[in-house]
Amino acid sequence: MSIVLGFDVYGTLVDPLGLEREMEPLFGDRRKAACATWRQKQLEYSFRRGLMRCYEDFDACTRRALLFAAKTFKVDLPDSAKRQLLADYLSLPAFPDVVPALETLKASGCKLLAFSNGIERSLRTLLGNAGVLSFFEGVVSVDDIKTFKPNPDVYAYLTSRGGHSRGETWLVSANPFDVIGAKAAHLRSAWVRRDSEAVFDPWEFEPDIVVSDLKGLASELRSWTSP
Ligand code: 2OP
Repeated sequence: MSIVLGFDVYGTLVDPLGLEREMEPLFGDRRKAACATWRQKQLEYSFRRGLMRCYEDFDACTRRALLFAAKTFKVDLPDSAKRQLLADYLSLPAFPDVVPALETLKASGCKLLAFSNGIERSLRTLLGNAGVLSFFEGVVSVDDIKTFKPNPDVYAYLTSRGGHSRGETWLVSANPFDVIGAKAAHLRSAWVRRDSEAVFDPWEFEPDIVVSDLKGLASELRSWTSP
């Protein structure tokens, strides 16, 4: 298959909600809610900064969102604990389906790129710690163009880095806002519906493929790319 697959990272390859154990000492039984608030605010800050054209990189959005979560849950967050949690964010676990799926997709001839709001240095550390960096021919960070998903410019940047047409460039993401952004920019897109309760936004854009995890992606793509 001579196509480019741009894989979203947080929520698609690694689990940003995978820090409940690390959050437990500070947030106790509210750790799940605090982790969810942290992720939701991290994304909201990226959207707001994109619209405001007041860019700060995703590490800064992640750091400020953690401070917001601590204030929301009235938790005193010492600098040492903040630094440790942000360090833990570079060791988020890969979902169990990721490695076997990337092995299959790479063997099928797809060009695999990591494609994320994250900054390249952090992404390489994160993907290396997760044991998946070696599958990717490149790490495409929106930080190179100083804006965020779902700005159409980031999908154009992914397409240019992939070196194929938009029709041969796929965005693979568990985040509906990302899938919609890619479709609005005329790329192909697969939605990884990891949460069976997840609802796709009722917009005028739909994913080309929906899979529950990455295992089924290669076979689904074959029906799109067979001669
Ligand atoms: C990404 O990795 C934030 O999940 C989004 O770009």
